[in-house]
Amino acid sequence: MINQYFIPAMGFGTFGRTGPEGVAAILTALETGYRHIDTAQTYQTERECGEALRQSGLKREEVFLTTKISTDNFDPGKLVPSLCKSLEALGIDRVDLTLIHWPAPNGALPMSVYLEQLAAAHAAGLTKLVGVSNFTIAHLRDAKAILGTLPIANNQVELNPYLQNGKLVTYCNSNDISVTCYLPIARGRLAGDPVLEAIARRHDATVEQVALAFEMQMGLIVIPTSGKAERIKSNYAAINIRLAPEEIAAIEAIDRGERVIDPAWGPAWD
Ligand SMILES: NC(=O)c1ccc[n+]([C@@H]2O[C@H](COP(=O)([O-])OP(=O)(O)OC[C@H]3O[C@@H](n4cnc5c(N)ncnc54)[C@H](OP(=O)(O)O)[C@@H]3O)[C@@H](O)[C@H]2O)c1
Repeated sequence: MINQYFIPAMGFGTFGRTGPEGVAAILTALETGYRHIDTAQTYQTERECGEALRQSGLKREEVFLTTKISTDNFDPGKLVPSLCKSLEALGIDRVDLTLIHWPAPNGALPMSVYLEQLAAAHAAGLTKLVGVSNFTIAHLRDAKAILGTLPIANNQVELNPYLQNGKLVTYCNSNDISVTCYLPIARGRLAGDPVLEAIARRHDATVEQVALAFEMQMGLIVIPTSGKAERIKSNYAAINIRLAPEEIAAIEAIDRGERVIDPAWGPAWD
């Protein structure tokens, strides 16, 4: 499954996948079939992603790579050099997607300061697509006004059956912004949920596979991670599950608006 920006719906997250074990996990993901890898300047996994990509023997163009600009690199003159460093760590000439990791903490810096640098990185050919992460509808409106004709290809946000972010997804869908779900399996918190467990039994699946299938069927992109080969493979197998409309409706009904990542300096969520 790929979307209008050719972003594979099933991606592999790399938060925590550092060092030789991280390289091994990312390599397992690539060998399993994942063709979309998500990293960030703050994760310290860009080097590991590059190493796993080289070890996999896959061609660069076969794997969609996303990185994210740290809020530390927003000041004038900092963003483009920081992305060049990311490319060096990854060992590639261009990433597929560069995201602004968070809006400036406490809104302390005007958005134009970092988005204009992001647009310059795009114009310089350092990234094929640009996007954002943890942006609210109000942020997206401001960002669109600043970026003009340069599309916001993606907004990466926390999203899983317990935090479905309906208003934001509706806004993104009607503005041609694809949505990536981080914490798509709620870091293991879905185990024991009676609705998900019942659906999982019907499909001979895990609750994590059901959550991932739900999100992809809603047209969203998912980036689960694991350090364990068995889970990396079983999460990937969610691409083979097709949920019935009544199962989708049942999962929609368990939304609790339960957010895990919510820093004090973060935005006023929708
Ligand atoms: N943009 C942002 O601000 C932002 C914020 C957070 C995350 N992210 C991105 O989103 C990715 C995913 O988020 P996340 O890693 O925080 O959460 P997640 O993918 O929802 O959950 C990962 C956790 O769940 C466990 N797990 C994985 N598969 C499992 C399974 N089948 N059954 C039970 N437990 C399982 C893993 O433990 P084991 O390793 O022990 O399997 C790991 O601790 C990150 O890696 C990162 O790339 C982005």
